[in-house]
Amino acid sequence: MDKQTHLGMNRTGIQMSPLDSASLKTIAAEVSPDIGGSSDMAAKLRGKYIADANPIGSVPVPGNLKGLVGTAMEKLTGNDIEVLVDKLGERLAFERTGVRLYDALLAKTSVLEDVSEAMVQSLHRFREEELAHFELAKSILLDLGADPTAQTPCADVAGVASSGILKVITDPRTNLAQSLDALLAAELIDNAGWELLIKLAGHVNHAEWIEKFQLALKQEAQHLATVRLYVENEILRDSAVLG
Ligand SMILES: [Fe+2]
Ligand SMILES: [Fe+2]
Repeated sequence: MDKQTHLGMNRTGIQMSPLDSASLKTIAAEVSPDIGGSSDMAAKLRGKYIADANPIGSVPVPGNLKGLVGTAMEKLTGNDIEVLVDKLGERLAFERTGVRLYDALLAKTSVLEDVSEAMVQSLHRFREEELAHFELAKSILLDLGADPTAQTPCADVAGVASSGILKVITDPRTNLAQSLDALLAAELIDNAGWELLIKLAGHVNHAEWIEKFQLALKQEAQHLATVRLYVENEILRDSAVLG
């Protein structure tokens, strides 16, 4: 597989054919869409769908209320449980995807030349840490008496949002720089996710969770800094080759 960016016969731009582009501009000015409407009308229609829509899902009632008895139960009030279960469910889903992202990237690096052994080792370590974060989210959900196999609304949304990242990395045509760039987006979300969970754990004053989440955040911060550096290095190397 070729990792570099190349000049080639890309015909997507209008400059590829000045003659055709002139007639295209003329036609675009003369012909209007054969379906009536405007962006305002589209926004109004979307508004109608939004007003009529059901929520994207619900947070399941903890099946094992025994899990809530004791320290956790005393500290949780109001909507605390719903919000925690929803966001922990999201974290669990995202960390599971994180493992798959690293697996997909490692499959790619295994067939590329010139990938440093140090990078491969780091990617392996980060993959194991994503798995540990998945296990952490699962164990806190179990502490709360919640079912870690349930898909919470935020887990559903996170799955849809991250599906594009997975598509980029598993696409056999994307090179290392493009795959790392997609991974960088995942790591930014990872960091924000654990920061939020630390705030939620602080809100219910749960010191043990805060400590565990802070360790996860520390590892995520290292993933982010490292992947950002890899992206920069790959792009600069690509640029030097082109120059
Ligand atoms: Fe993670
Ligand atoms: Fe991460």
